[in-house]
Amino acid sequence: MELQYLIVEEDIRPGVTLIRLNRPKVLNALCTPLMEELATTLERLEKEERTKVVVLTGNEKAFAAGADIKEMMDATAVSMAKKEMFEVWDRIKRVKLPIIAAVSGYALGGGCELAMLCDMIVASETAQFGQPEIKIGVIPGAGGTQRLTRAIGKARAMEFILTGKFFSAQQAYEWGLVNKVVPKELYLEEALKLAQEIAAMPAFAVRMAKDAILKAHELSLQEGLYYERKNFYLLFASHDQKEGMKAFVEKRKPQWKDE
Ligand code: CAA
Repeated sequence: MELQYLIVEEDIRPGVTLIRLNRPKVLNALCTPLMEELATTLERLEKEERTKVVVLTGNEKAFAAGADIKEMMDATAVSMAKKEMFEVWDRIKRVKLPIIAAVSGYALGGGCELAMLCDMIVASETAQFGQPEIKIGVIPGAGGTQRLTRAIGKARAMEFILTGKFFSAQQAYEWGLVNKVVPKELYLEEALKLAQEIAAMPAFAVRMAKDAILKAHELSLQEGLYYERKNFYLLFASHDQKEGMKAFVEKRKPQWKDE
């Protein structure tokens, strides 16, 4: 597939694919074809099984400044509902590969929501997060009211979503939204390092872990505990469980097969 809005570098590190959002003139505004390309690329990478971890980034100035306002401005409720604008976001949510957002500059509106849809966030100290939709007469529509609230708590989510003001990388770190904040020259490198660390782990166990962790936001504690247990038991059918435990006992490095 010819990509217009993304630059994809497979195997930038062993098992790691880097995807760059590439609409720099409009601060990577997330138009529908960009989101389609992103979902289709992630689905392809998952199916091909060479990639174990994805790093998603923008450029130094912007991760993404939100959904494309020019594309949405003349929409009607009916046209929005018919188009199901956010269905493509559900496709990305279903991707089982771990995805790390490497964020520099603006991560606003849909850009903040896309970073939160990823599994981890590494931020440059220049990153600015926010859900400024209120300033254009709407509210977050791609998960902001839910994921930001779960990540930073109700009081802060209320403040930032109701005022539309931005918050810094350091604040995002202190509130648990991002994994680490690093100088701007290092954000991509740090994200790639983290990706490489995860890519060296047995991929099927990584997938089962991601699957169970995400359930913590959807299920009650008891249901979540049962869910985790099922994934734990399932891993005893895998080669990598046998190999991992045997290698530990034999005091040698395990040879993963990712199955
Ligand atoms: N959609 C479309 N175009 C956008 C855009 C967006 N979200 N954000 C920026 N752009 C475009 C601008 O229109 C401008 O294009 P032109 O050169 O053709 O005029 C170009 O990107 C550069 O932007 P600015 O000149 O505004 O740059 P700046 O440095 O002065 O300001 C900014 C940067 C503060 C991020 C400002 O661009 C801004 O406020 N952007 C909009 C942020 C926003 O409201 N995002 C939420 C969108 S709605 C949403 O995301 C809904 C949802 O939940 C999914």
